[in-house]
Amino acid sequence: MTGASRGLGAETAIALSSAGAELVLLSRNRAALDGVAQRIVASGGRAKALVCDITNASQFRTVVDSMERLDVLVNNAGINFPEPFMEVSEDHLDQQIALNVRATFLVSQAVVRKMLEAPNRHACGGAVIHVTSQMGHVGSPRRTVYCMTKHAIEGLTKAMAVELAPHNIRVNAVAPTFLETPMTAPFLANPEFRDWAISKIPLGRIGRLEEVTGAIVFLASSAASLITGTSLLIDGGWTAQ
Ligand SMILES: NC(=O)c1ccc[n+]([C@@H]2O[C@H](COP(=O)([O-])OP(=O)(O)OC[C@H]3O[C@@H](n4cnc5c(N)ncnc54)[C@H](OP(=O)(O)O)[C@@H]3O)[C@@H](O)[C@H]2O)c1
Repeated sequence: MTGASRGLGAETAIALSSAGAELVLLSRNRAALDGVAQRIVASGGRAKALVCDITNASQFRTVVDSMERLDVLVNNAGINFPEPFMEVSEDHLDQQIALNVRATFLVSQAVVRKMLEAPNRHACGGAVIHVTSQMGHVGSPRRTVYCMTKHAIEGLTKAMAVELAPHNIRVNAVAPTFLETPMTAPFLANPEFRDWAISKIPLGRIGRLEEVTGAIVFLASSAASLITGTSLLIDGGWTAQ
C-alpha cells in the first residue's frame, strides 16, 4: 500500500494486518514507515517497509518487480494544496497531478501487471482500492486541482474495473469526507474552517479513520466479491444534499 507512513495509510495498514494481510508499506520517510511496520509486527502481523517515492516510476517499478506476488493494492498516497483557483502555481499544479494522478495510474499499472503474471491468475484475482475523496464527486472552494485529480481517479476506477473484470481483478474507490490526519491538521486547526466543514456534514462531525479503514478492508476482502467499479462515499452525507 502507498502512503503508509502516517494518517489514513498507516491506520489502513494496521487494519489490513488485523484482517490477516501480509503488507508491503511504501512511502518516502524511513523512520515513520519503520514505526508502522514495527506496530504491525509487535501485534503478530507481517509487514515489509520499503522507502519509495512513487512519483519516480522507475524506482517504483523496481520495488514491484522485487515482489513475489501481490493480491491487493491500496492507492492511498495523495496531496492537497488548498488555494484559490487564480493563485494555483504551475509547480503546485504539477505536484498534485504527479502524485494524485500520474503516480496512482503508473503504480496501478505496475501492480496489476504483477497480478496478471500470477500463476492461476483468474482464480487468484485481485483488488485495487483507490483512496479518492468526496472531492472526487463534488466541487469545493480552494480545491480546483485536488477536485480535478480525485475526479480523475474516480474515472480511472470505473475504466479499470470494466477492463480488468475478465481477469477477476476488482477496482473500487473509497471517497471520504474530512478526517483528522497530518494532511488536514492545518486546515482543521482553523475554527472557522472546521465549523464550515462540519456544517456541510449532515451527521455533524469530522470522520474517524476507522470509519474508512473498515471500508477498505471490506473492499479488499471476498465479502466484496461482486463489487467493482464503484465508489464508496464515506462522507456523513456531504454529497447527499
Ligand atoms: N485526511 C482527509 O480528510 C482525507 C479526506 C479524503 C481523502 N483523503 C485522501 O486520503 C489519502 C491519505 O490522506 P492523509 O490525510 O492520510 O494524508 P497524509 O497524512 O498527508 O499522508 C499522506 C501519505 O502519502 C505519502 N506520500 C506523499 N507523497 C508521497 C510520494 N511521493 N511517494 C510515496 N508516498 C508519498 C506520505 O508519506 P511520506 O511523506 O513518508 O512519503 C504519507 O504516508 C490521500 O489520497 C488523501 O487525498 C484524505
